Amino acid sequence: MILPIVAYGDVILKKEAKEIEKDYPNLDKLIENMYETMYAAEGVGLAAPQIGKSIRLFIVDADPFSEDEPALKGFKKTFINPIIIEEEGKEWGFNEGCLSIPGIRENVNRKPKIVIEYYDENFNLVEEEYEGLAARVIQHEYDHIEGVLFTDHINPLKKQLLKSRLNNISKGNVKVPYRMKFPKS
Ligand code: NI
Repeated sequence: MILPIVAYGDVILKKEAKEIEKDYPNLDKLIENMYETMYAAEGVGLAAPQIGKSIRLFIVDADPFSEDEPALKGFKKTFINPIIIEEEGKEWGFNEGCLSIPGIRENVNRKPKIVIEYYDENFNLVEEEYEGLAARVIQHEYDHIEGVLFTDHINPLKKQLLKSRLNNISKGNVKVPYRMKFPKS
């Protein structure tokens, strides 16, 4: 089932999400719906707060980036209760977008290497290292469960210039090719 994606301006996107237990009701179905929703919107990542659930869960499928970075071929993963335990290296910039902030892309600086600990969809504890674009996609989604958006990383002057466009998104005055839930419409 495709779920509506919560738009910029909704308070749920600014909240720190809560950890979940293994017996979280209908978790398999929720994850399946999140994949369906992400693919329908042509995204490479989706975090639970973006579909209205303030829980520490996100999914990624960065396969569309594999033309530029072959290592991302089939890079599809579910992250439950993740913790980024290390982030290192010299920050690099990349033009990021977000399904909750349609039509806006901005350069965001992030560190290139991470170590992350999380539970997979079968609740097995995993520790892995990622770098480059894979790390980038994870960092963006991880921010969502911490209540942080990519627009929080851009400088105040640039953000000021985006203010009216962001306001229009929260009011639903924006054309989007997928289902959204607008906080102020
Ligand atoms: Ni996003």
